[in-house]
Amino acid sequence: MTAAPPPVAVVGTGVIGAGWTALFLARGHDVVAYDPAPGAEPALRGAVGEAWPALTRLGLARGASIDRLTFTASAGEAAAVAMFVQENGPERRDLKQRLLAELDEAAVPETPIASSSSGLMPSQLQAMCGRHPERVLVGHPFHPAHLIPLVEVVPGERTDDRVVRAAMALYTAIGKRPILVRQELPGHVTNRLQAALWREAYSLVERGVATVADIDTAISHGPGLRWALLGPLLNQHLSGGAGGLAHVLEHLGPPTQEWMDDLGQPRLTPALADLLIRGVDDALAGVDQRRLVTERDALLVDLLQRKAQGTVLP
Ligand SMILES: NC(=O)c1ccc[n+]([C@@H]2O[C@H](COP(=O)([O-])OP(=O)(O)OC[C@H]3O[C@@H](n4cnc5c(N)ncnc54)[C@H](O)[C@@H]3O)[C@@H](O)[C@H]2O)c1
Repeated sequence: MTAAPPPVAVVGTGVIGAGWTALFLARGHDVVAYDPAPGAEPALRGAVGEAWPALTRLGLARGASIDRLTFTASAGEAAAVAMFVQENGPERRDLKQRLLAELDEAAVPETPIASSSSGLMPSQLQAMCGRHPERVLVGHPFHPAHLIPLVEVVPGERTDDRVVRAAMALYTAIGKRPILVRQELPGHVTNRLQAALWREAYSLVERGVATVADIDTAISHGPGLRWALLGPLLNQHLSGGAGGLAHVLEHLGPPTQEWMDDLGQPRLTPALADLLIRGVDDALAGVDQRRLVTERDALLVDLLQRKAQGTVLP
């Protein structure tokens, strides 16, 4: 008989916490959640209900149920009964400080505490935990967290290897694709990659080279289609034909270096932010955003299902 999945605490149930809650429930875990916002419990139950059809299409674990969600009156209460804590409080250092200290105080020493933090580094989070910093790390997901498989596992200076292995194993067991980030850097790995692309996108809009809509078309109807199947480096290798990446770098390397040297260095001033926001408004004029998200998520589920059937794609 296989052991029941361990109870998980999801602390902070906004956008990201709700995604984690839905996913853990779908994979058969009991979830004990906490969020101090007024109306947080009904909002969470509503969000889980909205995510459930997509998760059902992807396949629920045996015994998985929305009814296995309980809501507690404090973060500590949730952490005390969990065997894994996923923290998703606001990205504010003072709030994280108080929250992580409370979680560290309440959770049994063996319980890993993973923070979804996009910006804080794990060693900073560990410094907030006086009792057992060795069980703290970053487990950074991507929105929508119940569907996007990637999670970045980032240990801090004092994180125990055992905790890293436990987090990698748990995330894998719920269908995530964890990658281990080997050095602490602002933005971990993937937001740095996104920032590199956003940087040039913002610069091109600022310079009037392309509209927001054109830039999004360039990616979503261009390389973005390939990037969902193979990453940018394997795709680059394949674009070299029989000669592979070595050939690409030999003949396209020098111009690529020139492009890299010419990339913009935009500053996110209020004027540039305004330009980008107006560009998004123009691109979405007449579009029902709720339907857009529903259609995106439905196609995402199709793609995830097809990818799961692949035999060679990494
Ligand atoms: N939104 C994203 O795309 C994204 C992606 C990956 C990671 N993250 C990270 O996830 C975390 C949460 O981000 P979000 O986008 O879900 O924010 P959010 O504002 O949607 O949710 C934060 C939640 O924390 C709650 N909260 C406030 N004080 C709290 C406390 N003391 N204890 C517990 N909960 C408390 C709030 O009521 C709110 O519901 C952040 O660390 C962020 O960096 C966000």
